[in-house]
Amino acid sequence: MVTDERERVRPSGVWATAVGVARVRALETARENALFRDPLARAFAAAGGLWPSASPLPDDEAARRRRAAVAFSIVIRTKFLDDLLRQASASGVRQVVLLGAGMDSRAFRMDWPEGTRLFEVDTAAPLEFKASVLRQERAVAGCERITVAVDLREDWPGALAAAGHDPAVPTAWIAEGLLIYLPEDAVEVLLSRISAQSATGSRMGLTLGSRGVIERFGAGAVPGSAASMWLSEMPEDPVAWLAGHGWEAQSHSLRACAAAYGRPISTPPRREERPGGLISAIRR
Ligand SMILES: C[S@@+](CC[C@H](N)C(=O)[O-])C[C@H]1O[C@@H](n2cnc3c(N)ncnc32)[C@H](O)[C@@H]1O
Repeated sequence: MVTDERERVRPSGVWATAVGVARVRALETARENALFRDPLARAFAAAGGLWPSASPLPDDEAARRRRAAVAFSIVIRTKFLDDLLRQASASGVRQVVLLGAGMDSRAFRMDWPEGTRLFEVDTAAPLEFKASVLRQERAVAGCERITVAVDLREDWPGALAAAGHDPAVPTAWIAEGLLIYLPEDAVEVLLSRISAQSATGSRMGLTLGSRGVIERFGAGAVPGSAASMWLSEMPEDPVAWLAGHGWEAQSHSLRACAAAYGRPISTPPRREERPGGLISAIRR
């Protein structure tokens, strides 16, 4: 009999980035003062061939620093969105949608109030890979977990509704490490669709590529690396942009969140710091 492991689809293209994110979470989980604990992250990284080590460290110092900066931002954004989801649950939201869910294991690692339904939306290949690792780990979700295999550039609201999402009650939406992989027009369509499915009281957590990041990190990035696939950055004024879609948003910089979490960035900002890529929003 062919084992589950041998049948497993190999990470490739944009979804391979989700396994890289899991590796970063596994490293954080091993820290004594971890900002979160993600016990499944290591199994995802190992199944994708990224544990114990990832690809060799780049030779040049600047590339190594860029890689460390991306890893740091993943840790901070994970904690930021964990907190946002706890607040959403506390406000009574019982429906969660993770867009571009990748190897996000919040369904398993967080405490959910009774009656919570959590939808994970991604393309079929990462969801299959994830399912095989979850089976191997005998993972048990702490809420009702529903996976929806669909491309977010297509009619995903139809697929989500067919899976049982109810737009009449509030939803907590998370788009973490996703929008940067979509072209700007697709981001705009995605946001319109989210907004159309969001009852009053819905919440949203987004991470946006800060302005200039593609030029600084993506240009010259190793082909096939995450940064080489980045397509869009945040608009000039993300709060106004979201207001236009019916959301009352707050924008937080990585630096401010990192300091609040006891992980201050010691290097001074190289340019004027603007509120940045971590967004929380409430539907009015
Ligand atoms: C960097 S990973 C982040 C995964 C997860 N949100 C996290 O933070 O752990 C980006 C994810 O977005 C998904 N993604 C990118 N473009 C997509 C699309 N057009 N439709 C569905 N999923 C997409 C990828 O498959 C991948 O799992």
